[in-house]
Amino acid sequence: MIPLRVTSGCIGCGQCVMQCPTRCLMIRNGKRVYVSSENCSLCGHCFAICPVGAIEIFNMTADQCQVDIKNLQNIDTIIKYRRSIRKYNPEPLQREVLEQLVDFTKYAPSACNFRPLRFLCLSRHCMDEVGAMIAREMSGQFPKLPQQQDQLDIVFRGAPHCIVIYVESNHTHTGMDDAIITMTQLELLAQSKGIGTFWAGMLKTQGNLSAQIKQRINLQEDDMICGCLGIGMPALKYKRSVGRIPYHVDFLE
Ligand SMILES: Cc1cc2nc3c(=O)[nH]c(=O)nc-3n(C[C@H](O)[C@H](O)[C@H](O)COP(=O)(O)O)c2cc1C
Ligand code: SF4
Repeated sequence: MIPLRVTSGCIGCGQCVMQCPTRCLMIRNGKRVYVSSENCSLCGHCFAICPVGAIEIFNMTADQCQVDIKNLQNIDTIIKYRRSIRKYNPEPLQREVLEQLVDFTKYAPSACNFRPLRFLCLSRHCMDEVGAMIAREMSGQFPKLPQQQDQLDIVFRGAPHCIVIYVESNHTHTGMDDAIITMTQLELLAQSKGIGTFWAGMLKTQGNLSAQIKQRINLQEDDMICGCLGIGMPALKYKRSVGRIPYHVDFLE
């Protein structure tokens, strides 16, 4: 059984239903939400958005996962409160804001201090075309994707921009580690300023397989896409953090 429970406190507002990325919640008789499928990834977004804290995850209650949302400059708070944002205000961010965020990434660690990363910022027009290309190219694996992409923008989740981090072919051995660190820092920094982000993994996966997609975003065929971050102002606000089960650590002497 999925360790996710909708309690009797549910008021049937349906915010969790809208937010579930795998569409596994439904409202019964317009009154109570229930878990309608086993596809739950336990991401906790329903738990984090519920205005009355009526969902439990891994036996944890909303009260146990409160964070001081006004204090996002605190690193503990921002790590707990960061979520993959999948609902955006379509307004673009100012170019200076994006430039400042990217500028901060120069402080991230880099293997041998090579600093090989290159950045692209895709606009919505480009994302519409690339999203459709990705959906078409992945339709063998996911037959419904082209239609879903058309209706819901599964690839870019409605974000107004996507930052692509890539390296040229002579830096593929260290670029990926640098990029993952950089994306992580960039995401936390953005979310500490109230800007939403999510890892647009489909562009990384399919983009690295497709000469057409690389061409559309001005990359050389042997460039390696290391990470893609959808970014923009969120059109929703989570109320709390999420319940997570801790990783185990073995201590060796
Ligand atoms: C490498 C990677 C790729 C991801 N790709 C996608 C993606 O393509 N679309 C998406 O909506 N979320 C994507 N995510 C977000 C995960 O689904 C998300 O991190 C997870 O469900 C936990 O939720 P949280 O980030 O809100 O804590 C990706 C995350 C990672 C780390
Ligand atoms: S935990 Fe995530 S996947 Fe599971 S029901 Fe809630 S929102 Fe949906």
